[in-house]
Amino acid sequence: MINGERTTSRPLRWGMVGGGRTGQVGYKHRTGALRDGTYQLVAGAFDLDAERGRDFGTNLGVAEDRCYATYQDLIAGETAREDGVDVVSVATPNFTHFEITKALLNAGIHVICEKPLFFTVAECEEVAALAAEKGLIVGVTYGFTGHPLVHQMAAMVAKGMLGDIRIVDMQYTHGFNAGDDDSADAVKWRTNPATAGSTFVLGDIGTHLYYLSEVVLPHMKIEKLLCDRKAFIPSRAPLEDHATVLMHYDNGARGRLWVSSVNAGNMGSQRYRFVGSKASIEWSDSHPDQLIYEVQGEPNRILHHGMPYLEQESLAVDRMGALHTEGLGDSWANIYLWIAQAIDAKNRGDEAFLSTHHYPGITAGTEGVRWLENCVRSADAGAAWIDFE
Ligand code: NAI
Repeated sequence: MINGERTTSRPLRWGMVGGGRTGQVGYKHRTGALRDGTYQLVAGAFDLDAERGRDFGTNLGVAEDRCYATYQDLIAGETAREDGVDVVSVATPNFTHFEITKALLNAGIHVICEKPLFFTVAECEEVAALAAEKGLIVGVTYGFTGHPLVHQMAAMVAKGMLGDIRIVDMQYTHGFNAGDDDSADAVKWRTNPATAGSTFVLGDIGTHLYYLSEVVLPHMKIEKLLCDRKAFIPSRAPLEDHATVLMHYDNGARGRLWVSSVNAGNMGSQRYRFVGSKASIEWSDSHPDQLIYEVQGEPNRILHHGMPYLEQESLAVDRMGALHTEGLGDSWANIYLWIAQAIDAKNRGDEAFLSTHHYPGITAGTEGVRWLENCVRSADAGAAWIDFE
């Protein structure tokens, strides 16, 4: 169980780029980071609007002279200080991730970046090489995968409790873009290839599904994939507001993934069902405290987070304990903690720790982008089956 005790050598001096007053995801980062004494928020370039960013930052308790107008100013100001930031989170629109991450790494600063990490696998590989050369960590905020029941699912699969995995069924949908009003800033950049990249919902929400499936099914690789995508609101084309992806895995399993932001009225968010030869499990982030466990021929069971009957891998990352709700903020706190532990180990030169430590890093970010590239290649070929490359 995680109880907030610090597990790293010292608190990391932490900064943010983006995630300001108007940003959707910024508070999730702070909710995750400021939990276990592992990070102290000391600097930021929080907003494109410098004045608003400064006002926001000082309200968060950041010193006025460390609330910068731009990320370039942040890098210059922080690298000139003895007590400059160790790590910076990038919570800005997709098209800025690559440039900001590279600049931070070049300045010797660890990075925690939003997904989808970059536009291309080539960019991911360039950054992976840069991070390796500089001895720095790149973490990626796949924020849903810190939940203890995700790790329960992974442990159940690893221990053979489901038998051989046959079917993977995943859905992340909502209806917030069912209408055609794309005037909000956060929708405008998401529906423009220049600022979003080559996908809308596949990158925006599909990458969460894909990464979680990698956590639960690390032994399975996609061999073939078919992606059918469509913009129901034509002005969003060539980007999609809806997509279905079929996948063939190397163990013979079949996968189906549905992402949509035009699922009118739907608030179900994410749902995962992993079907094995003996049993199935199903989890949704709408009811994150419960895992449905169905053994063929037996009554269905609902497993609750924090209960002693769960696997050790799940109990070890539980924060609230049974009977009390464990939610998204707790999941993000785990992700931030695991990344802090990776940064701490890197700073200490503890490669042995890093070789077994699990956190969403540059490889996870790269694999998400690789999956997107394959989805787009298939969709552009007319929803054709393609070999996964
Ligand atoms: P948003 O449009 O709501 O906010 C972006 C923020 O970044 C704004 O405050 C803006 O002023 C600021 N900004 C933009 N460029 C900047 C720059 N160069 N320097 C400083 N600040 C800058 O966007 P949202 O929804 O917060 O998404 C940001 C990123 O987070 C995206 O990559 C998105 O895919 C990702 N995201 C991830 C989620 C997750 O669960 N991991 C959830 C929501 C978004």
